[in-house]
Amino acid sequence: MAHRIALYPGDGIGPEVVAEARKVLEASGADCTYTTIEWSTALYAKTGKCAPDDYLEQLKDFDAILLGALGNAANAPDHLAVQPLLGMRRGFDQYVNIRPAVLFEGADCPLKNKKPGDIDMMVIRENTEGEYTVLGGRHYTGTPNEAAMQVNYFTRMGTERIIRYAFELARTRKRKHLTSITKSNALVYSMVLWDDVLKDVAKDYQDVKYNSMLVDAAAMNFVRRPEIFDVVVCSNLFGDILTDLAAVIIGGMGFAGSANLNPTRKYPSMFEPVHGSAPDIAGRGKANPLAAIMSAAMMLEFLGDTKQGEKIRRAVRAHLAESDVKTPDRGGKATTSDVGKDIIARL
Ligand code: IPM
Ligand code: MG
Repeated sequence: MAHRIALYPGDGIGPEVVAEARKVLEASGADCTYTTIEWSTALYAKTGKCAPDDYLEQLKDFDAILLGALGNAANAPDHLAVQPLLGMRRGFDQYVNIRPAVLFEGADCPLKNKKPGDIDMMVIRENTEGEYTVLGGRHYTGTPNEAAMQVNYFTRMGTERIIRYAFELARTRKRKHLTSITKSNALVYSMVLWDDVLKDVAKDYQDVKYNSMLVDAAAMNFVRRPEIFDVVVCSNLFGDILTDLAAVIIGGMGFAGSANLNPTRKYPSMFEPVHGSAPDIAGRGKANPLAAIMSAAMMLEFLGDTKQGEKIRRAVRAHLAESDVKTPDRGGKATTSDVGKDIIARL
């Protein structure tokens, strides 16, 4: 049966990159039907919301969601614009956020002396709790006594399932190595729980080597020695920060795709480029669609169409290695759809 895909282009460059990803999906031979979801910050002026109240209900029966990007500060406050994104991650229990960072041939790595393949890591970010938990409040708003509390909420269940997922993944990879990111020297409750759970879960994965690294040291090592990382597991906020860094060391946000997975498949999973909506370059054909296209490949693989997903990945790799068709982020003059066409020609 055809996969029912919700295309949710969103704001800024989202529509342009999702349009190319759709063309690539169609050309890959994958059997999908597409429904375009027209929610963005443009709705805010009319309704005071960036998506209808029942957005989860409207999305829950799709097999997957391909998201462009959310946010345009000119139209709506950012924390409201991204609410549906964070709401889907939590509401659909997409607790695994997978963000691969691979240095491909033809990519312009900003680090010295790195060859293709030297960087090959999978960052597994916890996606439903931790520092992103909506718990806290403001007090005495607007007065000199004003206070805000933002609660970091870590459960054993939530921590265990993400660490387990990362160990399972590490087990399937050549190096079978896992780095767990922590900050238990300073965050003495949440991160000490994280470390305790790590040690417990590790007992079930004797074939996987693992270590713990403080997040500040990890930031340094992503730049200094990125080749030491294989699978990396981290909390929601640490993962957010480290994956922008991971995207930049492989040559830019332009080709970093990601998956927000509900591994139980009870609800749809969501796939999106790591980059944001970049409203400053929107509508001008300047955006690099490769991150959205890579996200589409991850979507097909999750849905079981591994052949078509692989085909797209191979086309992207060949394009990066061989093609002069480059968007401005890669120093070229090509447009978003020029890149899409080049990928399709290689499929
Ligand atoms: C990301 C983004 C989001 C996040 C924003 C838009 C809320 O930065 O997917 O990395 O912080 O998770
Ligand atoms: Mg981010």
